[in-house]
Amino acid sequence: MRESPHLTSVTAVAAAGSHLSLAVPKPCPATSSAGPAAARGVARQLLYVARTLDETLIAHLKSRGWQVAAARSAHELGRLVKPDLACAGIVDLASFAPRDIGGLEASLRQQQIGWIALATNERLTDPLVRRLVRHYCFDYVKPPVAHATIDYLAGHAFGMVTLSEPEPAPPASEAGDEEMVGTCEAMQQLFRTIRKVANTDASVFIAGESGTGKELTALAIHERSPRRKAPFTAINCGAIPHHLLQSELFGYERGAFTGANQRKIGRVEAADGGTLFLDEIGDLPLESQASLLRFLQEGKIERLGGRESIPVDVRIISATHVDLDGAMRDGQFRADLFHRLCVLRIDEPPLRTRGKDIEILAYHILHKFKTDNARKIRGFAPSAIEALYNYNWPGNVRELINRVRRAIVMAENKLITADDLDLAGFTEQECMTLTQAREAAEKRAIEAALLRHRHRLNEAAIDLNISRVTLYRLMGVHGLREPGGVDDKGAFGADEPARG
Ligand SMILES: Nc1ncnc2c1ncn2[C@@H]1O[C@H](COP(=O)(O)OP(=O)(O)OP(=O)(O)O)[C@@H](O)[C@H]1O
Ligand SMILES: [Mg+2]
Repeated sequence: MRESPHLTSVTAVAAAGSHLSLAVPKPCPATSSAGPAAARGVARQLLYVARTLDETLIAHLKSRGWQVAAARSAHELGRLVKPDLACAGIVDLASFAPRDIGGLEASLRQQQIGWIALATNERLTDPLVRRLVRHYCFDYVKPPVAHATIDYLAGHAFGMVTLSEPEPAPPASEAGDEEMVGTCEAMQQLFRTIRKVANTDASVFIAGESGTGKELTALAIHERSPRRKAPFTAINCGAIPHHLLQSELFGYERGAFTGANQRKIGRVEAADGGTLFLDEIGDLPLESQASLLRFLQEGKIERLGGRESIPVDVRIISATHVDLDGAMRDGQFRADLFHRLCVLRIDEPPLRTRGKDIEILAYHILHKFKTDNARKIRGFAPSAIEALYNYNWPGNVRELINRVRRAIVMAENKLITADDLDLAGFTEQECMTLTQAREAAEKRAIEAALLRHRHRLNEAAIDLNISRVTLYRLMGVHGLREPGGVDDKGAFGADEPARG
């Protein structure tokens, strides 16, 4: 649902991104595993297939708002699958005999279902099971697993598939190419400001780092202003050679200079009735600054070589990514012009300050460009999400677009990794030597065994296939002995301290 072709407020639905009207900004939850359908209050559908259904899991899912349809076989599942209905799916691969698993593939292949697999280590040794999980499942877990975890993963899988729900086409008159996405407070504030300034004719000055969306904001203001039916004319003051800028801005008459064979209308005049967007205004040479100031004072222009003063009615929006205060101090930018341009000021927030919006924008871009890769890319791997938040984004949204588009092309799996984004250095995972990796694995195995056996060393040692003495020693090495020496809930070993 869109209120405007250029502004789209998106709820902070983790990894899903639902498009909502700007007029009703939704709160920005820290995390949510719901999708757009949930955001619209539609019941979330879930297919659950297992040879033996876990009724307590079904009850839990229902209590979490899922509408659960359960099947005990591939055949029953096939009858429940509806091609047009986006839903989550839980497939208990551990419960089926190997010969029955192949029959599930047709349903697992359905793109509108976000599957989560339950699979034991043993079952994962089967190449068919591995292939099904790799190709068709959003994630997999090894039982026993908490119901809350399954609910959480199913929520994410559902969010993913609802991303590809066909959205109703906007009315032709409102169809815009670009959407402005934002849910964080800074972006909500920006949207409110855009709505307010759109209703006035006062000059707007937009400041912000490169790629933050200054031009998009200028366009959004124009599109929402009473001038929206008239032209939006943009001129990049930094991209036009200085000696051509005057004629480009104000036009010229025939014979004004050698080569001026016919009259040319300048950009200011071309924008009559509409909005003139002066991008990179900080690059405007002093000569053009004087002409622009005169035009802003008088509301009239003179074409080069002409005598006539032509009234032009435009609304001016200007933008820069450089420090204009510094330029004014250095005498490079006229303070009187700046005060005319900056009646209303908008500051674009840098991407790195937009929190959850980084992830939402990444999904928005993925959704927009995912057809660049024939592979079915479902989203971002945890490493990629971590890197998205850790990286500083000097090129802001434009850089994010470039990185995600590149990753879509480069990705070899269904989830984009930090490496695909060329941000592998921005994950916390430290480089480890093999010795460190072995030690970490050893510590994890000992911790797990101790937990399983509630610190009964005898039993944990049997599990680990080492002597109790060795276990006790290793606990010391890894800092796993409890303070006070009360480690063992069983007997002592030869090198263990005696308890009195
Ligand atoms: N909030 C947003 N939602 C969606 N797309 C955005 C958003 N902000 C910026 N973009 C996209 O990012 C790109 C850069 O935006 P834009 O050109 O408006 O930035 P800019 O600040 O003018 O950059 P520069 O300083 O380099 O001129 C564009 O493709 C734009 O559509
Ligand atoms: Mg720009």
